[in-house]
Amino acid sequence: VHNLKQGQIFTPPHITNQMLDVLGGDEVLANPENFFFEPSCGDGQMLLVIIERIFNALMNRYDNDIDKALSECLFKFYAFDLDAELVIKCRHNAFNLFLKLSGRELNTFEQYCIANSLQSSIEFRDALSKQGISAVASSPGRRAINRKGV
Ligand SMILES: C[S@@+](CC[C@H](N)C(=O)[O-])C[C@H]1O[C@@H](n2cnc3c(N)ncnc32)[C@H](O)[C@@H]1O
Repeated sequence: VHNLKQGQIFTPPHITNQMLDVLGGDEVLANPENFFFEPSCGDGQMLLVIIERIFNALMNRYDNDIDKALSECLFKFYAFDLDAELVIKCRHNAFNLFLKLSGRELNTFEQYCIANSLQSSIEFRDALSKQGISAVASSPGRRAINRKGV
């Protein structure tokens, strides 16, 4: 009700999960040719569900190799919001999710790598601007796909 009063409606996790299932589930989520773009991520309501689903799909693909799944997962999404405070919250929430998914105490260097990656995969941008649209083409996920083709 609070969110409705503010004119904000967040996507509940079960709807995000249904959307991912409609897209094709694990096969699409773990496909090296794909990455996922969230153009108005807010504090990450949808994005966190997407990240966790990608991670689980990669775990299946890589026989539960957590390090492989985690490092590939970092390159499989890209998100914007035009509210700078929400971008910071979203990065923070995604960082905590990666710590949880790792299932162990990550050292300072590993944590730095995750934080650094999130700086460039969750950005303060206007999805409707020309710069926003061209940023998707040069985003970390897009570049990772291009590198595989080289
Ligand atoms: C209701 S929230 C939705 C958050 C999330 N996508 C979800 O479904 O739960 C809408 C978000 O869109 C952002 N937004 C609105 N117009 C935008 C634009 N042109 N570019 C980027 N973000 C935008 C707002 O700042 C707000 O955080």
